[in-house]
Amino acid sequence: MKDRQTQKSVRERYAGAAREVLQGKPARCCSGKKDPISIELYDQAQSRDLPEAALLASLGCGNPTALAELGEGETVLDLGSGGGVDVLLSAKRVGPRGKACGLDMTDDMLELARANQARAGATNVEFLQGEIESIPLPDESVDVIISNCVINLSADKDAVFRECFRVIKPGGRLAIADIVTKAPLPPEITSEIDFWTGCVSGALVESDYIFRLHAAGFESASIEPVRTYSAEEAQALLASKSSTARTISADAAAQVAHNLYSGFVRATKPLP
Ligand SMILES: C[S@@+](CC[C@H](N)C(=O)[O-])C[C@H]1O[C@@H](n2cnc3c(N)ncnc32)[C@H](O)[C@@H]1O
Repeated sequence: MKDRQTQKSVRERYAGAAREVLQGKPARCCSGKKDPISIELYDQAQSRDLPEAALLASLGCGNPTALAELGEGETVLDLGSGGGVDVLLSAKRVGPRGKACGLDMTDDMLELARANQARAGATNVEFLQGEIESIPLPDESVDVIISNCVINLSADKDAVFRECFRVIKPGGRLAIADIVTKAPLPPEITSEIDFWTGCVSGALVESDYIFRLHAAGFESASIEPVRTYSAEEAQALLASKSSTARTISADAAAQVAHNLYSGFVRATKPLP
């Protein structure tokens, strides 16, 4: 029940973000400025290749397509594809013999992603409606799963990892950008739903992330830190994500700055 309520709050937040972009504004998952983990994720070469509207819709915390080794002809699935930026970049990398699919539960995000697909003229792309805890694809049908700042939002991460393992082909891989924490965050942060929907308090502790991936059947799981927050950035970030306008203590902000980071998570599904 609590999981359903969390998912409903996540969906509402991102439906709102998508509607803002559909009205021509840049994507923000919260009030205030774009947070420091989300800015300048794509280099000039990648940006040149994309419709501006797709870039404006980006709400990620990394660039999984830059770090994942995508090959010609591969099938890529992006979990929580949002406005579609990583799906469109993947589609270019896998070429006409390959395919890039995006999966998202939020209808307004799917509308935005399909509009961006049309702008980009991408034909080897498909956006699917559904939840990452129950992926609407057959077993062993995908070479690579990417995702950008989404797994932290799930209230049932073990279900996500089980589903990833099911749909990836043997020898296939996970290449995920996500928010991770070195240690549990303080109750002042974990007790507020806005910090969950704003990609802060749903972050897994790094050792737990690795443990759960291995428990789902993956091997060689690792996390590479990509971006961190300064104390001032953490304070500003938390203030911008909360809708209650309450003051976050300097101690809680310092703990967030010390522990929270954006990381690149890799894992592989063993060959039989
Ligand atoms: C922070 S945004 C990231 C969007 C995109 N990956 C990007 O980099 O711009 C999170 C996205 O994940 C989607 N999402 C969150 N939880 C989901 C779930 N359980 N199943 C499917 N989609 C989900 C939201 O609808 C939203 O589009």
